[in-house]
Amino acid sequence: MNRSVEVILSPALRHLTDLEGKLVVVIDILRATTTICAALHNGARSVEPVAELEQALEAIEAGKLVGGERNGIKVDGFHFGNSPQEYTAEHILDKDIVLSTTNGTRCIEMSQGATLILAGAFVNKRVLTDFLLSRTESIVLFCAGWKDQVNLEDSLFAGKILEILQGECAVEGDAAQMLLRWVSNDHAECAEILQRANHVERFRRLGVDDLNYCLQEDLHPVVPILRGGKLEIYRTSFI
Ligand code: MLT
Repeated sequence: MNRSVEVILSPALRHLTDLEGKLVVVIDILRATTTICAALHNGARSVEPVAELEQALEAIEAGKLVGGERNGIKVDGFHFGNSPQEYTAEHILDKDIVLSTTNGTRCIEMSQGATLILAGAFVNKRVLTDFLLSRTESIVLFCAGWKDQVNLEDSLFAGKILEILQGECAVEGDAAQMLLRWVSNDHAECAEILQRANHVERFRRLGVDDLNYCLQEDLHPVVPILRGGKLEIYRTSFI
């Protein structure tokens, strides 16, 4: 195998991985990358990820549609929170959206330098892995985690992707090996595995009901790719 797949379990470990020449899949299951897939599949023209809250507030001043959260809670003044269920066609069709979240949009910014930056989630799992298998570059699965902590949901999804890619890519690094052994031996449903996840417990406290939606495989079969600072649906004409 002349290409590899590796995992960054947390943004705090990002500096240890060289992204040059590689495809990066940013994974923020609850909920940034799920929301990005939902918005684009439901007809948004683009989703512009901004890491800093100040950037998002400036976008509001400029009359743009802005969504996102901090600590899981919609930011005052934003048009949307970060529930993928908010980004329906009636609200976002043909719109350019700016999105700023606690972790996920920061990871997209931290991925600069990669050949391609993609958004991955359960909702686009199949088209994402088909796209990755159609390419030749090595792959980095970048888990957003929570404020630099490793989290269950992003690591679980990365493990599921590793299971699919392991026949085509050399699985590199102990983190990837750990996830692969975990998912290969844990046959529980994802929803059951995640019942004790910190973010799911945070959702319970906040009354957020997005877990089951975010676990629906292939609900939003699009491949969001970063172009000119905005995430758009991948089209073969791009590359
Ligand atoms: C994140 O950035 O970690 C998530 O988007 C947080 C959330 O949506 O609650």
